[in-house]
Amino acid sequence: MKAYNIGVIPGDGTGPEVIAEAVKALKAITDAGGPEFNLVYHDLGGDRYLKKGELLPEWVLRELRQMDAVLLGALGHPEVKPGILEREVLLKLRFELDLYINLRPIVLFPGVYTPIKDKGPEDIDFVVVRENTEGLYAGSGGFLRKGTPDEIAIQESVNTRRGVERCIRFAFDYCRRRNRRKKLTLCGKTNVLTYAFDLWERVFREVGRDYPDIELDYAHVDAICMWMVKNPEYFDVIVTDNMFGDIITDLGAMIQGGMGIAAGGNVNPKAVSMFEPISGSAPKYTGLNKINPLAAICAAQMMLDHLGEASAASMLLEAVKAVVKNDVRSMDAGKMGYGTREVGDLVVKYIVEPMTT
Ligand code: IPM
Ligand code: MN
Repeated sequence: MKAYNIGVIPGDGTGPEVIAEAVKALKAITDAGGPEFNLVYHDLGGDRYLKKGELLPEWVLRELRQMDAVLLGALGHPEVKPGILEREVLLKLRFELDLYINLRPIVLFPGVYTPIKDKGPEDIDFVVVRENTEGLYAGSGGFLRKGTPDEIAIQESVNTRRGVERCIRFAFDYCRRRNRRKKLTLCGKTNVLTYAFDLWERVFREVGRDYPDIELDYAHVDAICMWMVKNPEYFDVIVTDNMFGDIITDLGAMIQGGMGIAAGGNVNPKAVSMFEPISGSAPKYTGLNKINPLAAICAAQMMLDHLGEASAASMLLEAVKAVVKNDVRSMDAGKMGYGTREVGDLVVKYIVEPMTT
């Protein structure tokens, strides 16, 4: 059986607890005849920073580059000033490993509560392809006259032709492979951001000519927020820039059942990719066995899919679906009806004995 080298970064807060359950699920997959995983742990995060002053050492980055994939728990520590771990660890990983796609499926599994009245799993099933290395996240800008009444703060959105094009091409390819409605919606703001989204829209139309089988669709980001709530069934695949993607995928996470179940992949199609639950480190739940591990388990599921392990991926997906359909009461921490470890055990149970429906 094939063996994969997986870099594991449990991270801060509840990260280690949810990663432990994802690892448990991966072990069960191996035991059920799936691939093997050599796990290489790295203790990046707030504790390491507070103890050693280290954020993302060069040698760790070098090791991660050699992995087949990376699984990340969460970063964010109450004693570390906001922005440091985010920018110097998470975003640095995304930038240094050139993980230029942030792939976020918005899927409502049967049995999971959505706050959207009269919508069900048949209506909420789309994917957001978020650009992950540019835009407002690039860190371009600065202060002038800082701390004075005349202070100016500038934060620029950086959109390169190359960066926009590779993201849009990925989205078209993904939409084709997904093979559902074959509709790709560009989420922008061409009526106001007349430089950035002018480039995005031109590239979108241009690249779209190579995909005659895909329907091209455009909507402003504010309209997309409305439709995600009003008629989520409208969407198949959405492609957008880093900042809009960040915002609409949190909205997406809420309509698919919340942060307890939402996962994402930081993808470079030609190099190592990194998978993570999209929630934060939820420090107030640390060590309480209350946090929902399903988002981390879904991240591991996306990782299997990305590695080309289709049958292992579907085994894990079916197990998660069985748990949310039969067992877990709510996706929210402390309200699941089970503890973190017990939800992990249930996933393992359905890997060992798949539910026959
Ligand atoms: C996410 C997170 C990050 C982001 C933060 C933690 C920097 O919100 O993965 O969506 O803004 O990208
Ligand atoms: Mn976010």
